[in-house]
Amino acid sequence: MLDLLAMLARRWRIVIGLVVVGLLAAAGVTQQVTPSYRASTQLFVALDSADSAIELNSAANFSSQRVKSYPDLVDSPLVLEPTIAELGLELTAAELAEDVSAEVPPNTVLIQVFVDNASPVLAADIANSVSTNLAAIVEELDKTREDRASPVRVSVTREAIAPDSPRTPIPLLNLIVGLLGGLVLGLAAAALREALDTSIKDEGDIQETIGLPTLASVPTNSEVGSDPILGHSPANAVWAESYRKLRTNLSYVDPDNPPKVILVGSALPGDGKSLTAANLAASLAQSGKRTVLVEADLRRPSIGKLLGLVPDVGVTTVVAGKAAISEVTQSCDEFDVITSGPVPPNPSELLGSQAFRAMIQDLRSTYDSVVIDTPPLIAVTDAAVTAVVADAVILVCRAKRTKRNELRRALFGLRAVDANIVGAVLNQVALSSGAYYQYDYRAPGAKAR
Ligand SMILES: Nc1ncnc2c1ncn2[C@@H]1O[C@H](COP(=O)(O)OP(=O)(O)OP(=O)(O)O)[C@@H](O)[C@H]1O
Ligand SMILES: [Mg+2]
Repeated sequence: MLDLLAMLARRWRIVIGLVVVGLLAAAGVTQQVTPSYRASTQLFVALDSADSAIELNSAANFSSQRVKSYPDLVDSPLVLEPTIAELGLELTAAELAEDVSAEVPPNTVLIQVFVDNASPVLAADIANSVSTNLAAIVEELDKTREDRASPVRVSVTREAIAPDSPRTPIPLLNLIVGLLGGLVLGLAAAALREALDTSIKDEGDIQETIGLPTLASVPTNSEVGSDPILGHSPANAVWAESYRKLRTNLSYVDPDNPPKVILVGSALPGDGKSLTAANLAASLAQSGKRTVLVEADLRRPSIGKLLGLVPDVGVTTVVAGKAAISEVTQSCDEFDVITSGPVPPNPSELLGSQAFRAMIQDLRSTYDSVVIDTPPLIAVTDAAVTAVVADAVILVCRAKRTKRNELRRALFGLRAVDANIVGAVLNQVALSSGAYYQYDYRAPGAKAR
């Protein structure tokens, strides 16, 4: 039940869309169909010549048996031809027969004649004419001898009147059918989409796929282009708050021995590793920790551009022994940054080198926290190689984009080096989605702590 509600919350657009399509189709069909009106008459069949009780009884039996065959006569040319002539219809008897029917209600000596026509008045006229003709034909056919009157008497007990409303279409019924049809199709389409969609949508998906807790859900921040690092302003308070939550949850991972060197990885490019690493560094710095952000993405460096720093010197310069750490360290707001430096031909070897390990060891003694940004885990081994020096690894997943199998593949390399993967960050969550219920208690516009 909860699964169904969660699916509806995600896929309501498809369901509503198909319900609207169903309603429109029903309205279209209703518009297109020419209305058809049904007029009806009632005839009563009696047998003459009942003088005694016995005769009366057998007469009743006779007429109730007999009456059963009369409806079959109603659409015969014998009955219809006179009607066509009388009303001047431009129809053959066979064509008119399609719109004329009759039935005998069980255990009665009544005949009901029905006539369908696009005109309510004509339907009634045809019904009345057909009924009169039927009565005459029946009496004529049941005449036993030419010189005697027919023992059967058929009288019209209820004449047809022009009906007010058409028999078909019934707009309300069509709309209900359209609505239900659309709903069923919509739910089926939603279930199909859901079954084919293996992307990570919420924290439960992460737990289910790789058995890791989600340390924070980061909403999409449309202003990240102009203001990528969380500040002290209340703008985008929920977004900024999510990185503080990440910081807090990291400190709970091992309270006696909180991780100092934290590596941020993800399966694919564009998941948000660099933005997460930079803002984690910022929030750690805000809590009073001396923090350095190290860019270990030596393939497609982006930190320099992201933070408006000089990318010319950095990790590769230090590892190559061309500069000291202090010479390549730049400052951004409250934390320090070491960008990648010039892109080397062999990033994996460089990150697996003794010199790189020594550099991180150095930083570990100088700073309270070292945050490492890395390239995608699925593409290259760099992040897994770097994970060896980290106390904790966090995996960034992009909501609704990272696939379950990509997340699993991202873990393979990390597990191979026995990395301490402590949890995930669900990035680019829609603010309106269920993943955000934990912020519901906040008054609108409330300041972040
Ligand atoms: N929470 C967010 N809200 C808005 N934009 C975001 C968010 N997270 C990431 N982005 C945007 O997505 C893009 C990719 O982010 P980022 O560079 O951090 O990803 P990455 O995982 O480091 O990618 P790469 O593997 O290529 O280095 C950037 O333009 C970034 O601004
Ligand atoms: Mg990056």
